[in-house]
Amino acid sequence: MEQQLKQLRDEALEAIAAAENLGEVEDIRLSFLGKKGRVTGVLRQMGSLPPEQRPLMGKLANEVRDALEGALAARKEVLEHAEQQRRMAAETLDVTLPGRKPARGTIHPLLRVRREIEEIFLGLGYTIEEGPEIETDYYNFVALNLPKHHPARDMQDTFYIDEDAVLRTHTSPVQARTMEKSQGAVPLKMICPGRVYRKDDDVTHSPMFFQVEGLVIDKDITLGDLKGTLLLFAQRMFGENQQIRLRPSFFPFTEPSVEVDILCTSCQGKGCRMCSNTGWLEILGAGMVHPRVLEMSGYDPTKVSGFAFGMGIDRVAMLKYGIKDIRYLYQNDVRVLEQFQGGIG
Ligand code: DAH
Repeated sequence: MEQQLKQLRDEALEAIAAAENLGEVEDIRLSFLGKKGRVTGVLRQMGSLPPEQRPLMGKLANEVRDALEGALAARKEVLEHAEQQRRMAAETLDVTLPGRKPARGTIHPLLRVRREIEEIFLGLGYTIEEGPEIETDYYNFVALNLPKHHPARDMQDTFYIDEDAVLRTHTSPVQARTMEKSQGAVPLKMICPGRVYRKDDDVTHSPMFFQVEGLVIDKDITLGDLKGTLLLFAQRMFGENQQIRLRPSFFPFTEPSVEVDILCTSCQGKGCRMCSNTGWLEILGAGMVHPRVLEMSGYDPTKVSGFAFGMGIDRVAMLKYGIKDIRYLYQNDVRVLEQFQGGIG
């Protein structure tokens, strides 16, 4: 029996030393020291020994069990330590690693230009007005001196909703709405940025686009005031050396009417493809508010006068940033949009 115990001890110690993980250590413990373990089995046979041998065997058996328990605990500790080391190595954090920056959105070029225009005119004491995009025939046309069946209505390719409602073709109806609201009070200085709609679709036209309307009414407003205001605007928007020129034109709601050009942003007036060798680019329509228009909206044209202008925000954005195709403004292609970093928030 002594032999047996010593053999079991050596066998177990060898197995314990070779155990590679905690599961194996536990298996070894069960197979030697468990209830049905081999050492336990040997101890059960103690009863069959002659009484004088029992104390000696008992002592040896205890020693073997203690030796195995000690070896098991030691091996367990070694393996646990190794496991902890492994986990710590795997979970190492490099606290000096810079954080990942979240992708930042940018302000759409149309909104940038719109805000820039608003800033310029707010600084000149203008208010910002709004009007509905679904507009009545009256405000879109009649109040602007374009009665039903007037031939100049053909200038605008209108989306009709019904006999009396249209998608507004310009922001000009907000002139009439603001004048009515102001009930003859002067000075009136307002701009109105917003969406407008026309049946038009090519490289420079989109069926939905943006305009800004401007309107000033006061005593003794002249074409000189209009020109000075637009020159200041052009210089703030396109650079302090910008120049403008006024060409005679026609709009039913202004008299006289002008179209306003700026020096070509590509060749600065020398003449190039972009400006068809004229050196100038058209940016807006304007004029002195027609007496009929003042009258219809509650102002007395014998006492006050005014100027108005309307420009395309898309067009200003295209000229300012050299965008050749208006569709870039509406496709939301990040490769285009991410080029407009920072700036006016
Ligand atoms: N409403 C015109 C258009 O959409 C632009 C315009 C021209 C507006 C002259 C005005 C103006 O206020 O006075 O083509």
